[in-house]
Amino acid sequence: MIRHAKPDDHAAISTLVEAAFGQPDEARLVEELRANGDVIFELVAKAEDGAVEGHVLYSRLWADSVMLYAALAPLSVAPTLQKTGIGSRLMTASLVTAREFGVHGVILLGHPGYYPRFGFSAEAASRVKSPYSGSPSFMALALEAGALDEPLTIAYADAFSG
Ligand SMILES: CC(C)(COP(=O)(O)OP(=O)(O)OC[C@H]1O[C@@H](n2cnc3c(N)ncnc32)[C@H](O)[C@@H]1OP(=O)(O)O)[C@@H](O)C(=O)NCCC(=O)NCCS
Repeated sequence: MIRHAKPDDHAAISTLVEAAFGQPDEARLVEELRANGDVIFELVAKAEDGAVEGHVLYSRLWADSVMLYAALAPLSVAPTLQKTGIGSRLMTASLVTAREFGVHGVILLGHPGYYPRFGFSAEAASRVKSPYSGSPSFMALALEAGALDEPLTIAYADAFSG
């Protein structure tokens, strides 16, 4: 089951994110984004017994535009359940949710072999100026037509600088 994260999921999310990445940095990023009020939404994938098996977070980006742009990070699946489709289901559901929140474009830094299947590309990010511009890992997806057609400068939420 995929649903919005609730406050009582937070401890399990931290444990999951740290296990997925094998280090605490991304779990700390999630906690700091929440503490700073920069989260747009978080979804969790839950097992029948209530265990959190996957998680994704969208945070606000500061853009020189009236349109809303979001950073997708991190995306995490429990190590023993990776490559069983949970990440894909979270991606598909979260992109629908992002549209519902009025997000016009989503930006991420991620595996170039994974995200293109959901429509992300480095080409779509080519007019987006950020400290990560130019890397093949820096990808974007327009959720509204034209959202990434003009040059755009973005800044990540403060938690990313840590
Ligand atoms: C990356 C991650 C979110 C993918 O979720 P998942 O549930 O394991 O992946 P899915 O089952 O939806 O998709 C499986 C497909 O993704 C591919 N895939 C999984 N991890 C990948 C990676 N790191 N790089 C490239 N492709 C990857 C698999 O090879 C498989 O490809 P196929 O369908 O062609 O066989 C998950 O493996 C994870 O949590 N990894 C550790 C944390 C991480 O790296 N997060 C993403 C940061 S960008």
